[in-house]
Amino acid sequence: MIPLLSLLLACGDSGEDSGSTDALCQDAPVVTWEYWGQGFLTESCQSCHASTSADRNGAPASVTFDTEAQVWTHRDAILATATGAEPTMPPRGGPSPDDRDLLEIWLRCWLEEP
Ligand code: HEC
Repeated sequence: MIPLLSLLLACGDSGEDSGSTDALCQDAPVVTWEYWGQGFLTESCQSCHASTSADRNGAPASVTFDTEAQVWTHRDAILATATGAEPTMPPRGGPSPDDRDLLEIWLRCWLEEP
């Protein structure tokens, strides 16, 4: 019983040890643009980053997440600003740690060049 429990705990931990993409992606839930991704961006980012935003609050016109292809283009910058230990996007916070984990899983494990 004890060995099985520690194995389960070790598996549960792997997603937070972001040092290795393999550890992150092994057994990770499926996250795609259609399933979760677009909805998350709409809720958390598009008030400033959509091409149709009425007030971008200074978000650069080039950093827009209307399509999966645009997310692919900005993949590294999104990982750098919206995931990890000290995210800076959105500027006033908002997304839960779980959502930030899903964002990282989507971008690192599932997103492909369109
Ligand atoms: C309240 C408005 C607002 C929201 C919401 C917002 N951003 Fe931003 N974003 C900005 C502004 C302003 C900048 C430009 C200044 C800066 O880089 O800090 C920016 C810049 C960026 C950049 C470019 C940074 C770089 O160094 O090139 C990325 C990538 C980004 N945001 C991602 C996101 C993501 C992902 C979300 C949602 C999780 C998000 N932003 C939500 C306002 C916002």
